[in-house]
Amino acid sequence: MHRKVTIIGSGNVGATTAHWIASKELADIVLVDVIEGLPQGKGLDLLQAMPIENKDVGVCGTQDYIETANSDLVVITAGVPRKPGMSRDDLLATNYKIVKDAVSKAVQYSPRCILLVVSNPLDAMAQAAYEISRFPRERVIGMAGVLDSARFRAFIAEEMKVSVENVTAFVLGGHGDTMVPLPRYSTVAGIPLTELLDAATIQRLVQRTRDGGAEIVKYLKTGSAYYAPGAAVAEMVEAILKDKKKILPCAAYLQGEYGINGLFVGVPCKLGERGIEQIVEIKLTLQEQTALENSAKAVRELVTSIAA
Ligand code: LAC
Repeated sequence: MHRKVTIIGSGNVGATTAHWIASKELADIVLVDVIEGLPQGKGLDLLQAMPIENKDVGVCGTQDYIETANSDLVVITAGVPRKPGMSRDDLLATNYKIVKDAVSKAVQYSPRCILLVVSNPLDAMAQAAYEISRFPRERVIGMAGVLDSARFRAFIAEEMKVSVENVTAFVLGGHGDTMVPLPRYSTVAGIPLTELLDAATIQRLVQRTRDGGAEIVKYLKTGSAYYAPGAAVAEMVEAILKDKKKILPCAAYLQGEYGINGLFVGVPCKLGERGIEQIVEIKLTLQEQTALENSAKAVRELVTSIAA
């Protein structure tokens, strides 16, 4: 039986996510957008690419949530992207309204789905989705850590002139300027980065990772990244639908883990068919723990300002 993934928002991130999911033949896809014709047109175009790619994937686009019924996964990409000079946090009020509407409609038709939140500011939007859906925390997951660590991996591979396949990396914390790349837990062929590069080089790669989204916004001017964000979502969707039990950095609702309570923050999570099946607690140095707490504080300020 085909699995079903709904993607709400058919802009660059939503459409590119659909493209990656279809090319991996993970599920049938329903694209949703408020703009009439947009999800229908992109959906039909993607459907017509499937014979070329030899993938049996159904794709359609709609404005009507009834067509999203009984989705296994609902990916929320709806919202406005940032423009040059804006931080992700500047999108808070506008995107909260959009995400609230999307989540309440989606969960009505797919009460057993797993929600995967992509809209920015990511951690606060994931928290909003968790509160609006009233789903258990296992079934509300934010995408950011896979993207941020992919950026870190790309920069490490480029710097060291090695295959990206050799590079693993971990980025914790909120998806914002306070994110916490962890060089100690990032490796090249299993060797910790801290054994391979000097501190100044590592710091340069860490800062470029933190600014990874903004660097692209500066070039594009009218929007933000979408190839890597879409690929990151597809990796998470694959881990869940194939029940891979894959450990990936995700935004999860913490209840005491890492000393943080009642808040979405990026941490290593085991993803399987039930969603977040385990939150993996790794030992942090005092400096890393302080950076994570600092990042959590920035997320909490945003969440509190929604509630106000
Ligand atoms: C980025 C945006 C999508 O990091 O948050 O590119």
